[in-house]
Amino acid sequence: MVIWLIGLSGAGKTTIGTRLAERLRARNPGVVYLDGDLLREVWGGTLSHDVAGREVNAERLSRLCRMLDRQGVDVVAAVLSIFPHWQEWNRQNLSRYFEVFLDVPMDVVIDRDTKGLYQAALRGEAENVVGVDIPFPRPASPDLVLDSSGRDGTPDELVERILSAPGLVTS
Ligand SMILES: Nc1ncnc2c1ncn2[C@@H]1O[C@H](COP(=O)(O)OP(=O)(O)O)[C@@H](O)[C@H]1O
Ligand SMILES: [Mg+2]
Repeated sequence: MVIWLIGLSGAGKTTIGTRLAERLRARNPGVVYLDGDLLREVWGGTLSHDVAGREVNAERLSRLCRMLDRQGVDVVAAVLSIFPHWQEWNRQNLSRYFEVFLDVPMDVVIDRDTKGLYQAALRGEAENVVGVDIPFPRPASPDLVLDSSGRDGTPDELVERILSAPGLVTS
């Protein structure tokens, strides 16, 4: 089973994904958390943030999820995925795939600017920022959509919403 969190930078993927994995480990200590940003370092720190580099990261993450899923390992994956075809691949290739879209308005993530990326991009000093110079396609068929601007609750409340979502089957 793979729970896949999608959202813009600053949407709360790492915050929610880490806590979700911790909550799942209470029942199943073998749950693995995979964060797209951390995987870049696992791959050797060589991938760019342009569309081509992002696609290599997305493909490797999906294929790693399949490898773990085939061994019965439950995974929480967090990635700023802009590739509808890899999300479709997940649905076809993973035993159970539950996609959560952390939908948050641009002005909220610009305000948070957790990595300082948005202000730099808006000043023209950074490129390859999704939501600014790389378009973010809204996921076509997420299993759950949560507003992570605070409107649907705190990060912990959103974790509970995911855990109690109809259609989520965990081991
Ligand atoms: N309701 C909320 N849901 C998720 N994150 C929130 C919420 N309210 C505030 N935040 C904050 O927004 C930031 C999200 O950052 P992060 O988890 O690193 O996002 P991402 O991994 O998607 O880039 C964190 O500092 C988090 O505490
Ligand atoms: Mg993150």
